[in-house]
Amino acid sequence: MSKRPLLSVRGLRKTYGKRDARFEALRGIDLDIYEGESVAIIGKSGSGKSTLMHLLALLDKPTEGTIKLNGKDTSKLRQGKLNDLRNKEFGFVFQSFFMNSNDSVLNNVILPLKIAGVGFRERRRRAMEALKVVELDDKAKNKANDLSGGQKQRVCIARAIVNDPKIIFADEPTGNLDSATGERIQKLLFGLNEKKGITVIIVTHDQDLADKCGRQIHISDGQISEERTLANFDGDGNNDGMRDQNNIHHIDIEEEA
Ligand SMILES: Nc1ncnc2c1ncn2[C@@H]1O[C@H](COP(=O)(O)OP(=O)(O)OP(=O)(O)O)[C@@H](O)[C@H]1O
Ligand SMILES: [Mg+2]
Repeated sequence: MSKRPLLSVRGLRKTYGKRDARFEALRGIDLDIYEGESVAIIGKSGSGKSTLMHLLALLDKPTEGTIKLNGKDTSKLRQGKLNDLRNKEFGFVFQSFFMNSNDSVLNNVILPLKIAGVGFRERRRRAMEALKVVELDDKAKNKANDLSGGQKQRVCIARAIVNDPKIIFADEPTGNLDSATGERIQKLLFGLNEKKGITVIIVTHDQDLADKCGRQIHISDGQISEERTLANFDGDGNNDGMRDQNNIHHIDIEEEA
């Protein structure tokens, strides 16, 4: 593989707490993720999946090891640059990373654009477009708090995609959802992956969802215990063939928007 990875981590360790409370959540992770890939991170509760995700998303710093983004060592970046980069290049679908529940759905989706300095009309237009993708444009004016769990999850997706990110990080995006809503969210994520080439990294307990990703990374006790690349995946982000075999129907994001 000659292409440079989008994200490259080496010797990643994360230790929480001190002395007696010390806990090694990650114990030496080496991992390369390429542009356009869909990667599932799976493993038992407490194995370190969310910890890894937070580090990959540059939301937290490792105790040891390096994280390179586009070949650049991220530990060398200043906080301001880091925030800027996260806001522009990353989209987050985290259950614990929630919305401002007293604000409107629209304002929640607008937030990353506001931070990025996009003008009033344009950010409104783009946020409405993202809400259309998740079929919640009719709820734009509602208070975020008044939505159902699945709808909130879809607002998170709208907010994650509104900036046209390079990478979407999703931690249990279908957790606690009924199967129909879960399926819609799956289709949305894979639609973005296929149609827009957005790299998606998904932490999940849902084997069905993991099976649709180009690569599965199993985490056990803070280490990668197994890695599986699905058939037809060439490590170049081009895993459409594989997913076609799995009979996943694609949605056309452009059309829905
Ligand atoms: N801030 C923290 N302080 C101390 N320990 C922590 C902290 N965050 C996580 N841990 C511990 O690190 C380990 C890994 O946690 P992590 O959240 O990464 O697990 P996970 O694989 O995402 O689990 P789950 O599937 O339940 O979400 C757990 O044992 C957890 O208790
Ligand atoms: Mg977790």
